[in-house]
Amino acid sequence: MATIDLPATVPTILQPSPDSDKLILTSLPPPTPDEVNTHLLRILATAPCPGELTWASAFPTAVFPPGQDSTTRPLVPGPDLVGIVLSSPADSKFQPGTRVFSRTPALRPGNARKYATAPEHELAAVPEGLSDEMAVATPMGAETGWQGLFVHGGLAPPMESDAEARNKDRSVFVTGASGAVGGWAVQLARAVGVGRIVGVCSGANVDFVKGLGATEVIDYRATSVADWVASGGGKVDLVLDCVGGAMLSQSWHAVRQGGRVVSIVGDPEGVRPEGVGVGAEGCFFIMESVGGQLEEVARLIERGVVRPVVD
Ligand SMILES: NC(=O)c1ccc[n+]([C@@H]2O[C@H](COP(=O)([O-])OP(=O)(O)OC[C@H]3O[C@@H](n4cnc5c(N)ncnc54)[C@H](OP(=O)(O)O)[C@@H]3O)[C@@H](O)[C@H]2O)c1
Repeated sequence: MATIDLPATVPTILQPSPDSDKLILTSLPPPTPDEVNTHLLRILATAPCPGELTWASAFPTAVFPPGQDSTTRPLVPGPDLVGIVLSSPADSKFQPGTRVFSRTPALRPGNARKYATAPEHELAAVPEGLSDEMAVATPMGAETGWQGLFVHGGLAPPMESDAEARNKDRSVFVTGASGAVGGWAVQLARAVGVGRIVGVCSGANVDFVKGLGATEVIDYRATSVADWVASGGGKVDLVLDCVGGAMLSQSWHAVRQGGRVVSIVGDPEGVRPEGVGVGAEGCFFIMESVGGQLEEVARLIERGVVRPVVD
C-alpha cells in the first residue's frame, strides 16, 4: 500500500466537550490507516445526524472505547461521508481514486475534517453521476431503513430473486415517513414490491411521502393511529417507527397479531398500551455500518428505483 504524506495537522471541526453542543474549527493530526481502518480517504462531503452532539454525554459507552474520553477520542461530528480513496490494501475493492460513501460508527470520530480512515466492509462505491451532496444524504438513512425492513422486519431484500412475489401481500407502516430514515424505508419498501405501504407524516408532507411510494398516508396532526385503524385503516405486518415516544406507543394499534413493531428511537415494549398489539412483538435496534447493504442501495439508485432527497 502506497504511503501518503499528510500534513502534521489538518482543519477539523471539533466538539470540545461532551456536555456542550458548541463546535469549534481547529487543527488536529489527521488519522492514519491501521490494521482495522485500512483505507485512507480524503473527505469530499459529510452530513450530521439528529442528536449526535448529545451522544457522548448520554451514551458514553457507545462513543468512547474502554479507557478513552474526549481527550483521546476527539469528538468530530458528521458520521456520514463521501470521500476519495487515497490509499488502500492491494486486494481491496476500493482502489485509490474510487469515490466511496459510508457511515462511520459512533465509536470512531466523524468526518468533519479533511481525511478519515475506514475498513473495507463499511464502504461502497458512489454511483456515477450522483453528486457528493446527494450521495452523503444516503448512508445513514438508507442503511437504517434497510436494516429496519430486511434485517429486523422480516421482508425479503432486493437481491433475492423472488423478493417481489414474497413481499406483494405484506404491509408496512412507517412513522416519520417524511424524514431521512423513514423516507428511505418507504422507497425501499416500494422497491421490493411491498403491497401496502402506509406512511405517517405531517399534512405538509403528504404529497411528498406519496411520491416516495406510500400507498396511503396519515397526517398525524389530523388523525390518531388508533382512530385511523378503527375507521377501517386495518392492521399491518410491520411497523417501522422512526419517531418514538407517543407515536411509537400509538403505532401498536396498527400492528396485526403475529406482526412486529421495530423502532429506531425507543424500546417499543416499554410504551406498549395495555391490551394493545396482543400477539405482536417489539424490538429496538441501533444501525450498523454495512457497506454491502449500501452497495445494494447504490444499485437501486443507478437503476433509478430510489433516490436520496435533500431539501
Ligand atoms: N437507532 C438507530 O440506529 C438510528 C439511526 C438513525 C436515526 N435514528 C433516530 O431516528 C430518528 C429519526 O431520524 P431521521 O434522521 O429520520 O430524522 P428526521 O429526518 O429529522 O425525520 C424526523 C421525522 O419525524 C417526524 N415527526 C416529527 N415530530 C413528530 C411527531 N410529534 N409525531 C409524528 N412524527 C413526527 C417528522 O415528520 P414531519 O416533518 O412530516 O412532521 C419527520 O418525518 C431520530 O431520533 C434519530 O436520532 C436512530
